[in-house]
Amino acid sequence: MVSKNIRDRHQLLCTEIQHHNALYYTDDSPEISDYEYDQLINELLSLESKFPELVTPNSPSQRVGSKPLDEFSQIEHQMPMLSLSNGFSAEDILGFDQRLHKETDIDQSEVFEYMAEPKLDGLAVSIMYEDQRLVYAATRGDGRVGEDITHNVKTIKSVPLALPKEAPRRLEVRGEIFMPFKGFDQLNASQLAKNKKAFVNPRNAAAGSLRQLDSRITAKRHLDIFVYSIGVNSDAEFAVTQSQALENLKIFGFPVCPLVEVVQGVDGCLNYYEQMEIKRPTLDYEIDGIVYKLNDLKLQQVAGFIAKAPRWALAHKFPAQEKSTIVREIDVQVGRTGAITPVARLEPVFVGGVTVSNVTLHNKTEIARLGIREGDTVIVRRAGDVIPQIVSVNLSKRTNDSVEFHFPSNCPVCNSPVIAEGDGAISRCTGGLICAAQVKQAITHFVSRKAMNIDGLGEKIVEQLVEKSLIETVADIYSLTHEQLKELEGFGEKSATNALESITKSKETELGRLLFALGIPQVGESTAQLLAQSFGTINKLASSDAQTLMALPDIGPVVAENIVAFFNAPHNADVIKLLLDRGVSYEVIDVDSVVDPNSLPLNGKTVVLTGSFSSMSRAEAKKKLQQLGAKVTSSVSKKTSLVIIGQDAGSKATKAEELGVNTTDEEGLIAMLN
Ligand code: IVH
Repeated sequence: MVSKNIRDRHQLLCTEIQHHNALYYTDDSPEISDYEYDQLINELLSLESKFPELVTPNSPSQRVGSKPLDEFSQIEHQMPMLSLSNGFSAEDILGFDQRLHKETDIDQSEVFEYMAEPKLDGLAVSIMYEDQRLVYAATRGDGRVGEDITHNVKTIKSVPLALPKEAPRRLEVRGEIFMPFKGFDQLNASQLAKNKKAFVNPRNAAAGSLRQLDSRITAKRHLDIFVYSIGVNSDAEFAVTQSQALENLKIFGFPVCPLVEVVQGVDGCLNYYEQMEIKRPTLDYEIDGIVYKLNDLKLQQVAGFIAKAPRWALAHKFPAQEKSTIVREIDVQVGRTGAITPVARLEPVFVGGVTVSNVTLHNKTEIARLGIREGDTVIVRRAGDVIPQIVSVNLSKRTNDSVEFHFPSNCPVCNSPVIAEGDGAISRCTGGLICAAQVKQAITHFVSRKAMNIDGLGEKIVEQLVEKSLIETVADIYSLTHEQLKELEGFGEKSATNALESITKSKETELGRLLFALGIPQVGESTAQLLAQSFGTINKLASSDAQTLMALPDIGPVVAENIVAFFNAPHNADVIKLLLDRGVSYEVIDVDSVVDPNSLPLNGKTVVLTGSFSSMSRAEAKKKLQQLGAKVTSSVSKKTSLVIIGQDAGSKATKAEELGVNTTDEEGLIAMLN
């Protein structure tokens, strides 16, 4: 029996913490320090571990974010999470209804009852309850296996953590997590204030928030949920119709979209659709269509499924939105690796819920296809969260002032020659590390986590550094001073010190990271690793030729040419020399044994790691396998030579079995490495 004193103390702690949570997570204005907050939490946790009966679903120990996880684990869905077939026109809906009559063998004259629901534009989630307690929540993933996002879903206030006694002993509830427009606007305002990138739409923002390893961040985002169906369910009598299922879920405390409606036949569906098209602009969340579901659950069973979607439901999508506007001019953007992309600058138009003023024209072929000129009137389309595109040019509105666009033969930023690559679709500036446009992006890439891993140099800071000429090439990062940094907008004493510390720390690096950081066209993280393992030093790589490079697994003629061209450009050589002169160093890899990849024991073998290992991390295992010449990939196919199965392995182990691919466990892995 817990004494009254302890109960009171627990209650007080709960109230206090809830108060501070609201200040911290909702109002963004904490009154106490993190340290004081942690003290309260620690006391709560220690009380609850001594007296487990104090743990109620509403205790702050159960709700608000917890410390960051290392990675998401996987959860296999007990019933697959399906997608929906799409329809776009009244004919499509008629066809759907007629097919359903045939499949269920019911006369066409009989009118079906449908549940009409808004199609919420967020992310599907499965939430499992056992003995009326939330046990886990998972993303849809590939429909069979999703990611465990329990810690983040628990931070969403409208998700019940416990259900009333009447709820089935086992109940899986499915629904859509979304970010209301209001929360989206607030989030983007705060992202911009912190010099971080804004999210393009509420769906992406919701996805980004749910995919946080640190659920304290998720807790600060305004996510919400509407549930729309049940999955696994231990109570066979739970409901006989979809509408009854939703009613029951409401009674158990789940939020259900208030706009759902039972309608009669195709006419009822189309009528509902029209009403919702009108309502849509007034809603405070995004919907991208209507879902019609046969209301009778038994009939649903009769209708069954095709491949990945039920026959008894259809998503009637709202049309992609199109608007007409004028092309002010066409210019080009220079990407990180010099890729030159033409962009149409438009008279801003509001289409599909966003204002569009720039649209990529991709490449020369696309410009030729559209026949687009500056001054032209064009149709812009934006469908769902797809990037806006130009659909066509309205030639009847072309005036004599329209100007044809010529692809530049020199980079508009650094004037270096532009070369065409491959079949001519890609044009690239050859300026490399001396091109200012490339430099900004090159620096951002150089400092990124998987490259040199330097903290504190966000996009806005890099922009200032380049604009103030404090940095011309990535090598100049290593001559920045505290004085220079602390003067930057958004920086002060402390952030300058932190950034400098991080810069210094990054000097001791690995060759693979350094090569990746240099941003050689088409050399990603794993190619960079391969090059490091094969050449051991940057000089040996720099003096190799295309033929030698092509002898390595996975390096084709284009990548080989890119590497040779990169090291042959004198300005790149200068930058590399400066980096090394300014103290960047890496452990030289002993390549006597590895320079010839053919001699490596695992040469030519493709290995997949799944699950976790007790003697090393997956990243370590990957590295060691690569050092022995294996190619380590993330998905299992017939071509996989071996799957190494650790603890809590998910679908990859099953897939290996299905495909008859060889497998081994941690012991086998260790034996192999030895
Ligand atoms: S029912 C088998 N109902 O749409 C039934 N889905 O395109 C599948 N969605 O993955 C789900 N609103 O994320 C259903 N009212 C609604 C929905 C809805 C949005 C999403 C869901 C699903 C996707 C399929």
